[in-house]
Amino acid sequence: MRVIGIESSCDETAVAVFDAEQGLLSHRLYSQIAMHQAYGGVVPELASRDHVKRLLPLVREALADARSDRQSIDGIAYTAGPGLIGALLVGAGFAASLGLAWGKPVLGIHHLEGHLLAPLLEPNPPDFPFLALLVSGGHTQLVDVAGLGEYRVLGETLDDAAGEAFDKTAKLLGLPYPGGAALSQLAEAGRSGAYVFPRPMLDRPGLNFSFSGLKTAALVALRGRVLDEATRADVARGFQEAVIDTLAEKCRRALAATGQRRLVIAGGVGANRRLRERLAVVAQSAGATLYFPRTEFCTDNGAMIALAGCMRLARGMQSAGFVGARANWELGQSGGV
Ligand code: KG4
Ligand code: ZN
Repeated sequence: MRVIGIESSCDETAVAVFDAEQGLLSHRLYSQIAMHQAYGGVVPELASRDHVKRLLPLVREALADARSDRQSIDGIAYTAGPGLIGALLVGAGFAASLGLAWGKPVLGIHHLEGHLLAPLLEPNPPDFPFLALLVSGGHTQLVDVAGLGEYRVLGETLDDAAGEAFDKTAKLLGLPYPGGAALSQLAEAGRSGAYVFPRPMLDRPGLNFSFSGLKTAALVALRGRVLDEATRADVARGFQEAVIDTLAEKCRRALAATGQRRLVIAGGVGANRRLRERLAVVAQSAGATLYFPRTEFCTDNGAMIALAGCMRLARGMQSAGFVGARANWELGQSGGV
């Protein structure tokens, strides 16, 4: 069984081909970051228009790389939500057209399901069940994953996502959008403890997060100071340590509460090396094993969508019979697209 996956929920256009027996055969990605950088963030209409331009060439390239043609493809998976509605509709319309032209089933995939399953693209993948920390630009959730499509959200952010907090603080530090990776690089030069920011929600029970106060704390710390390189690095370090401490403590609690023996990190912030190092320690103390996708599959990609589509198709879990897109879509919510 072989599935082509299409991702267009935000500012990356990505296409991949996944085969149930042979694994990932190809993956192609076009990042729109350079185009949006001039505006300091994603401009939805520009994103949609660019997806229209990029999709067809990427599909051709991904098929050629995989030495596949339409006959060898058993299904077309696309990101149906959540995300920017215009961007999602480009992918949905494109997938629907391919499905009609090729006479193949079309599967709408939840973007976060894609992220959750991304570690399964790696050698020695985790078995179900596992606990997942999903940390992306738009979401921060702890999810109990019992099996494919069996997701229970144990806790989530009440305001900003972790990636969003990274991006907003990076902007304060004068770093270009999206600043998460650049901020973590800057933090390497900073001194630990020079700035100590609050650890939001650690004084409360439960598994929810809150990150919006952290960027305000960073803003207050920076106010009236000369923004030399050393100060910026110290603030970046302090901010990153506060986020990682919070994520690590909530993971520790979630492992204890669920008794899970596998911890998965997924989503763009999962690319953060310090976070991975810290969670490896948390997992080990809890007698659990840590799993994460390679860096390029932490951030948005087509491989995770092709994989999720292939797993669903193999189990006869197809979407509801019509092709659509949803800007807001809770993980684990029934109804499909
Ligand atoms: O999963 P993703 O590609 O997009 C969403 O689905 O939202 O995540 C993108 C987010 C951005 O906020 C980006 O700044 C952040 O992941 N990110 C990082 C790192 N690399 C990417 N945050 C912290 N450290 C990194 N190394
Ligand atoms: Zn994502």
